[in-house]
Amino acid sequence: MELSQNTDFTDRVIMAAPAEEPERQYYFIDVMKSILAEKAAALGRKLTMHIETFGCQMNEKDSETLAGILGAMGYEESDSEDADLVLYNTCTVRENANTRVYGRIGYLGNRKKLNPDKRIVLCGCMMQENAAVEKIRASYRFVDVIFGTHNIFLLAELLYRREVGGKQVICVWDKAQRIVESLPRINKYGFKAGINIMYGCDNFCTYCIVPYVRGRERSRAAADIVEEARHLAANGVREVMLLGQNVNSYGKKSDDGISFAKLLRMVSEVEGIARVRFMTPHPKDFADELIEEIAVNDKICKHVHLPLQSGSTKLLAAMNRHYTKEQYLELAAKIKERIPGVAVTTDIIIGFPGETEADVDDTIDVVRKAGFMSAYTFIYSKRNGTPAAKMDGQVSEEVAGVRFKRLLEAVGETSAAQAAKLTGESVTVLCEEYKAKEGLMTGRMDNNLLVHFPAKEEMLGSLVRVNLDECKGFYFLGSLV
Ligand code: 5AD
Ligand code: SF4
Repeated sequence: MELSQNTDFTDRVIMAAPAEEPERQYYFIDVMKSILAEKAAALGRKLTMHIETFGCQMNEKDSETLAGILGAMGYEESDSEDADLVLYNTCTVRENANTRVYGRIGYLGNRKKLNPDKRIVLCGCMMQENAAVEKIRASYRFVDVIFGTHNIFLLAELLYRREVGGKQVICVWDKAQRIVESLPRINKYGFKAGINIMYGCDNFCTYCIVPYVRGRERSRAAADIVEEARHLAANGVREVMLLGQNVNSYGKKSDDGISFAKLLRMVSEVEGIARVRFMTPHPKDFADELIEEIAVNDKICKHVHLPLQSGSTKLLAAMNRHYTKEQYLELAAKIKERIPGVAVTTDIIIGFPGETEADVDDTIDVVRKAGFMSAYTFIYSKRNGTPAAKMDGQVSEEVAGVRFKRLLEAVGETSAAQAAKLTGESVTVLCEEYKAKEGLMTGRMDNNLLVHFPAKEEMLGSLVRVNLDECKGFYFLGSLV
């Protein structure tokens, strides 16, 4: 979908914009900065922005860039949806996320009646779906700007076009045309940050909409990734998470010979980076080289998120996952054996078409045998346009609900048992959040579990040793060593 017609292409400011990126966007940021400064002066206060991020870490990362662009234009962050600009970075992996977004846009529309100069911006995966954009175009005219996952870098330009055109601006690209680096970014935490190493997904799991909304798999150049890590480290970041829909196929399409394992090593060697995480690998091509790198490299966190989806070989085939129940269990066992202390976590879908009680038994069997530290469990959500949406044997909500409860019980038992084994140990944690009222710090262990312990706020962002005094199921209470 191209830019909608209602923008003014004879506008002098637009015609004078540099053609190159990111220079062009810095130009529009500056233009918007003056426009917003005038508005702020008229109002006698700063303009505020509120960003709401749905979905995965990729969206979280994109939102930091979007916040950076808006911040550079002069907006100040606010917790309230009454802000002068509200941006929703949407997710469409499951249908209920979409429903929630529509509800909230309706609410924003009412708030806009009180502040007609309010700007409402929608972006992210849901906007890559024609049906969603059409619905917003038809029924939510008050939404100001809509763009997708491939062109977030255009935010400043699109907001400017909205200012001069006075009407809804829609600009969604079907596929990625380029990767624009070096945009401003507001780092939510300061001491930890995500780095995209690849975009898109070529796996086409039959339930999943991601390949349709995020496009084909593209890896970023290793040198750019390392440079971003260096830049982040120089600005105080201690922990980075390498992000991609399927990180272990990193670099497979390029000929520089840099595998994901090698990339992990390169990033871990950046001065100032103390910890490296990654999300998400696919069990079908988890190389031994990667297991070895995690095992020997002290900076790589001992946490492997290994999405199972189902423990039934029959359903795994229908899902197009390319592994069997036995292969998954073998891989999980190998990872645990070669990487002492590793936490394996997972994603599981219940209610996939054709699922029987025996399939659920298989899944629960894997949960018990693999010993997951935690599992994200989802009820299958039918996504139009995916092969599974047309499959026979769709499972009713009621049946899926009962099965889901069974699964949750099994997951609860096994993860609590896994965590409890750590009671009494001392571990290194990254101090991530401080609750002043209770005087409690939340630290993240290298295996991704959390521990709350009494500490001082100044410790935020540092790595400290903590004793795990008491296991509370999926988190700990502890004390500084
Ligand atoms: N329904 C339910 N869960 C889904 N996921 C992806 N697509 C769907 C769907 N249609 C889950 C998978 C994936 C996680 C990010 O979301 O478990 O690993
Ligand atoms: Fe979706 Fe499968 Fe790609 Fe993950 S690997 S994003 S589940 S298609």
